[in-house]
Amino acid sequence: MVKIGNISIPTFPLLLAPMEDVSDPPFRIICRELGADFVFTEFISAEGLIRNVDKSVQKLDIYPEERPVGIQIFGGEIDSMLECARIVERANPEILDINYGCPVSKVVCKGGGAGILKDIDKMEKMTREIVKSTHLPVTVKTRLGWDSESIRIEEVALRLQDAGIKALTIHARTRYQMYQGESDWTWIQKVKSHPDIEIPIFGNGDVSSGEKAHFNRITYDPDGIMIGRAAIGYPWIFREIKHFFKTGTRLPPPSLKERIEICKRHLLMEVEWKGEKSAIREMRRHYSNYFKSLQDFKPIRMKLVTAENLTDMLGIFEQIEETYYTQNL
Ligand SMILES: Cc1cc2nc3c(=O)[nH]c(=O)nc-3n(C[C@H](O)[C@H](O)[C@H](O)COP(=O)(O)O)c2cc1C
Repeated sequence: MVKIGNISIPTFPLLLAPMEDVSDPPFRIICRELGADFVFTEFISAEGLIRNVDKSVQKLDIYPEERPVGIQIFGGEIDSMLECARIVERANPEILDINYGCPVSKVVCKGGGAGILKDIDKMEKMTREIVKSTHLPVTVKTRLGWDSESIRIEEVALRLQDAGIKALTIHARTRYQMYQGESDWTWIQKVKSHPDIEIPIFGNGDVSSGEKAHFNRITYDPDGIMIGRAAIGYPWIFREIKHFFKTGTRLPPPSLKERIEICKRHLLMEVEWKGEKSAIREMRRHYSNYFKSLQDFKPIRMKLVTAENLTDMLGIFEQIEETYYTQNL
């Protein structure tokens, strides 16, 4: 088992990454069913939560089937983050996670997300105060540094551990890289092998197959792996990686029937949770992966991403079934 404070999760856990408009309760439940050991919410704005903004408050929802779950918060002001942590406590997640990695300008310019990588003293102070203020185990997700000239991730890990965090996830890119270039996991290995590091170190960045997960596991020795983009429209990635760890072989991909069933269920759960309009809009980013490699799929995909109501959506699913089942795929 891996210990995160008083929480135990299976050895070498696979974690679903926090992803805005993706890692919501329906998707988290599906990922848990398909092998994710731990899931994080999308990030929640401290300011939004304090001001009781509906969208932020809704993100606190946790369904029993998805536990254990970590709620992730972001913000640039220590006082707001402390108030936010108190609100998060009431939602009763297993973990409170702080986002020090978001590269987006509107977050960074207010000193939140990866913006705080420019002020490590403040990062340490904010973390220490949040840890002191809550009974929840506090974890952090961050990047290597602001840019390639200023990577101080070993120092950051040590200082955050000293501030009391119970696990650290490192997305092995700098803020400057945004999502470009390749993640550099050698830094994860450096942090992990530091003699004074005792907390679990989870690696994140560009893991999209069992082979890659296995390679990163044996080469860089993280305590677990967090998966983001590879899970979008393909929640089977978790069970595939686990199968590869166990057997060294690739699990056959899910059948078309399973893909349609899960995708439809995902959509219906989203409609129930966030309402028809948002659900239909936000599901759009999943379809290319859910239906990857279906022949001549482009016209149907166009329909999926332009339909505006559930009746039309369900009609398109029927069309997919009719078109592709007859081809015996
Ligand atoms: C659509 C999207 C939304 C994201 N939202 C968040 C977020 O809310 N909080 C966070 O810490 N990281 C967020 N990320 C970053 C991911 O958690 C992850 O660190 C990054 O995608 C790298 O991992 P991957 O290569 O497995 O995707 C987001 C990424 C994507 C693609």
